[in-house]
Amino acid sequence: MSADDWLTDTRTSYDTVAQSYADFVHTALAAAPYLRSALALFAELVRDAGGGIVADVGCGPGNVTAHLYDLGLDMIGIDLSPAMIEIARRDNPGPRFEVGSMTDLDLPDESVAGLLASWSLIHVPDDVVPGVFAQFRRVLRPGGPLLLGFHVGDTSRLKTEGYGGHPMKVYVHRRRPDRVATWLREAGFTVEAQLLLDVDSGAQSAIVIARRQHA
Ligand SMILES: C[S@@+](CC[C@H](N)C(=O)[O-])C[C@H]1O[C@@H](n2cnc3c(N)ncnc32)[C@H](O)[C@@H]1O
Repeated sequence: MSADDWLTDTRTSYDTVAQSYADFVHTALAAAPYLRSALALFAELVRDAGGGIVADVGCGPGNVTAHLYDLGLDMIGIDLSPAMIEIARRDNPGPRFEVGSMTDLDLPDESVAGLLASWSLIHVPDDVVPGVFAQFRRVLRPGGPLLLGFHVGDTSRLKTEGYGGHPMKVYVHRRRPDRVATWLREAGFTVEAQLLLDVDSGAQSAIVIARRQHA
């Protein structure tokens, strides 16, 4: 298996489920008060840091991107899956959407005021995460906030179908917030907050907010 097979498999999988995933998350934010609050806090942090372009990396159909746009942020959504980007453009007038990978962001150094990755880092293998965080650090302005949302746990599983029974081939990596925080510190971020979601559900998620260090 070549190093980039996971990227090809992830792109193909999300191209296959793009419309059914969009239908699945269409009303998700309305039922997620803690996530909405974290996004409002993130928007405030971006404004306090001076404002500017904010990148939603792994934006999928763009519902979170559009929510932040409606909160007044200047948004660009980036996703590996061309089908996702097509849907994001169709359904969300306002933000800019581009195909791209978080492993090699087509953005200039220090060009974004804030960056989020909402349940998209979950598909990135452990050995690739430090390189992705180096990309996030490169494109973020010093002092710019970073928001990560991800599934919590210690296991990785191969998802072979999803969102209406469509075939998929993606690994879903669950991680402990402390582990993610360690990777962030090593990449030049200061970790400012961690929020654990669905604590009693047996399927916890976490939101981590960090800030790109100045030096
Ligand atoms: C579970 S969906 C999350 C979508 C959206 N952020 C949300 O919160 O609903 C994961 C998304 O991450 C994207 N993705 C996975 N790996 C990526 C990568 N290396 N670069 C950019 N996007 C990626 C997938 O194409 C998919 O749209």
